Amino acid sequence: MEYQKRTTTCGALRARDAGQTVVLNGWVHRKRDHGPICFINLRDRYGITQVVVEADAAAELKASAAELKFEYCIAVRGKVRARPGNMLNKDMDTGEVEIVADSIQVLTRCETLPFMIDEKSDAKEDLRLKYRYLDLRSLSMQRKIQLRHKVAFSVREYLTEKGFYEIETPTFIKSTPEGARDYLVPSRLYPGKFYALPQSPQLYKQLLMVSGMDKYFQLARCYRDEDARGDRQPEFTQIDIEMSFVKRDDILELVEGMLGQVFQKTLGVDLPAKFRRIAYDDSIELYGSDKPDLRFEMEMKDASAYALRSSFQAFKDAIAEGATRKAADSSKGVSSQDGAVKALLVPGKADYSRKQIEELEAAAKIYRAKGLAWMKVVAAADGGDAKLEGGASKFFSGEGAAPGLEPELIAFLGAKAGDLILMVADSKRKVACTALGAVRSKLGKDLGFCDPKAFEFAWIVDFPMFEYNEEEQKWDTAHHMFTMPQEKYHDTLESDPGSVKGDLYDLVLNGFELASGSIRIHDSALQKRIFQIVGFDEAEGMKKFGFLTEAFKYGAPPHGGIAPGLDRLVMLMAGETSIKEVIAFPKNSFAVNPMDDCPNEVDQKQLDELHLQIKYPEEKKQ
Ligand code: AMO
Repeated sequence: MEYQKRTTTCGALRARDAGQTVVLNGWVHRKRDHGPICFINLRDRYGITQVVVEADAAAELKASAAELKFEYCIAVRGKVRARPGNMLNKDMDTGEVEIVADSIQVLTRCETLPFMIDEKSDAKEDLRLKYRYLDLRSLSMQRKIQLRHKVAFSVREYLTEKGFYEIETPTFIKSTPEGARDYLVPSRLYPGKFYALPQSPQLYKQLLMVSGMDKYFQLARCYRDEDARGDRQPEFTQIDIEMSFVKRDDILELVEGMLGQVFQKTLGVDLPAKFRRIAYDDSIELYGSDKPDLRFEMEMKDASAYALRSSFQAFKDAIAEGATRKAADSSKGVSSQDGAVKALLVPGKADYSRKQIEELEAAAKIYRAKGLAWMKVVAAADGGDAKLEGGASKFFSGEGAAPGLEPELIAFLGAKAGDLILMVADSKRKVACTALGAVRSKLGKDLGFCDPKAFEFAWIVDFPMFEYNEEEQKWDTAHHMFTMPQEKYHDTLESDPGSVKGDLYDLVLNGFELASGSIRIHDSALQKRIFQIVGFDEAEGMKKFGFLTEAFKYGAPPHGGIAPGLDRLVMLMAGETSIKEVIAFPKNSFAVNPMDDCPNEVDQKQLDELHLQIKYPEEKKQ
């Protein structure tokens, strides 16, 4: 029998439609039998509508209703009836009406469900991913996919208004070192040769600037073979942007405008016209991270000067060790970091238990802290000034501490009775900062400061251009090799790479890195110097990136760009903490898709055609 095609959707009907005869198509969301009357909640992408099979319905209709189970796909024909005042359902958009069914047609049946299609599903993640098409039926997933669409649409609209072209770049490209490992695609036609899937369209977007395209964007799929995390997937999407004849602030302003419009149009949220800017060094000093969560203040302070006047030998040793190393490095003309004691005040948490402090210490140790010192601030028994108590307090107030140190430290930190003070010392300032920063982040979550509806953006600017790779004993670029070093460092690039700042910027939102970008090098000579500093000889640089340096010989314009991660943006807008929640078919934490079981083995014939032989790891052979 031909199926009855819908005349409207399950989200459309209101009291004004009463009296109309309609056909709805959808899924049986819930069914309730109230004696002779049966209620069916029929669901589609647009909403849920209540269908009633009345007590005096025809026997055939009653039989059809009796057969229905969860998620049967059905067609219902009936008359729209306004619900009486006491039966209105304010929680449903269609809660003013119900459909009095006169026919129910089962379009397809549904087997026993692996989990209920429900907003509060507690099904395990792998089960949800195995049956992702069912998981996507839930209203919560539908809302997130809808939000993703709206964000993408709004991005396209904004950038098109600003004169950008959306240009697709290839997904089979040359393998070039870009940070993570490449996914490779073997070539059938050229034995032993491979394409790589792009980690980002970086080189192509720069080449498009050489082509005079001026303003490019693309919602670009990117592929990176790296360990999955909550905010990382092996394949993900960037809002990839590149512009010619711009300086840093032009790009920051464009992105501020774009996000302002996207948030307003999709969430109705007004963002500030400008986001605050924080220098990388300040971000590390104040928050111990280059992606600080700014939904709460809790800034760290440098208590090194106070630690030096205490009797805490471990603290003093850390500072002395750092000073010795810094002096030795500086005699070689190389800048390096000193040691530091960083302090964090946790207001009103002097009642934290030993166990709670140990949990914070564990967070610090992940970031290489040797320990987490603590002290409580208490009211003096005689009603005088607040005092330090417990933990490391004896070093700041007892014998051996400089006179007056205790009240001075309390005043410096702005501490009051009832507060908790936490400290990390290290001979490397960055270790002390990042370790205590991890404690700050954990406290923010534990203390409920991370409101998912608050959006705190910041630009992190003035990043170091190079990072020292201790393992390989060489300099690497902190972002990628095409970033312009800031002009004032051009003469000292080779002699002191550690002090060079790049014309580089990240956008952070609620503790996540949302976007990264830079002003690019557009001069082949400068590009070659960068290749040399990171240890590429000219031949190697030419082999890997020759086409880019070649292109730069033909009148390359000054240019720069940025790439906000679309998945992370939608994740944060949806109040989620994993990008899997906003991707229709994501991989699990092991880079596997439990639905189609990829990656999977392929036929020997396919391998032969690709001239490939598999060398299994030892354990798999046995
Ligand atoms: P970068 O590597 O910093 O820069 O990436 C830019 C943004 O992409 C997102 N992102 C990811 N999202 C999900 N899963 C991943 N594995 C993943 N990796 C990155 C983040 C990140 O901020 N070509 C440069 C950009 C440029 O310089 O213009 C680039 O790719 O949101």
